[in-house]
Amino acid sequence: MVEGIEAGIYHYGVREHELDLLRTGDFRAAVAEAALDQGFLAEAAVVFAWTAVFARSKWKYKERAYRYVYLDAGHIAQNVALAAVALGLGSCQIAALYDDEVDALLGVDGKEESILYMTALGRR
Ligand SMILES: Cc1cc2nc3c(=O)[nH]c(=O)nc-3n(C[C@H](O)[C@H](O)[C@H](O)COP(=O)(O)O)c2cc1C
Repeated sequence: MVEGIEAGIYHYGVREHELDLLRTGDFRAAVAEAALDQGFLAEAAVVFAWTAVFARSKWKYKERAYRYVYLDAGHIAQNVALAAVALGLGSCQIAALYDDEVDALLGVDGKEESILYMTALGRR
């Protein structure tokens, strides 16, 4: 649970540096189930879902974009892990997940945009 933010699924708007509410509700059990029933995800304060909108990289990197988006997701997750340490929080990277189930939760189509990776964050 995060104080001051209603439970739900949010999109992070990079340009505005703001959270856009996509779906209100408690999705903890659904997220854990979509990640091969990794139960600790249902106890995390927040789970970051890193997706790629492939066209945003493909216009520049062509086929290599598929390599770049995964590298980039790793960099982003690493920065969250470092921030977690600085804040005294625990984090865990999650790649064991059912792409289709996570995409459905997020409301992305799995083609133009798809889940790559997740990071769970919370108090130890
Ligand atoms: C690419 C990648 C995917 C991972 N996926 C999972 C996962 O699905 N579930 C999990 O419990 N840990 C996952 N981990 C975390 C590792 O199992 C391991 O706990 C972590 O890398 C070591 O962190 P620590 O040094 O804090 O123990 C993943 C790590 C990486 C680098």
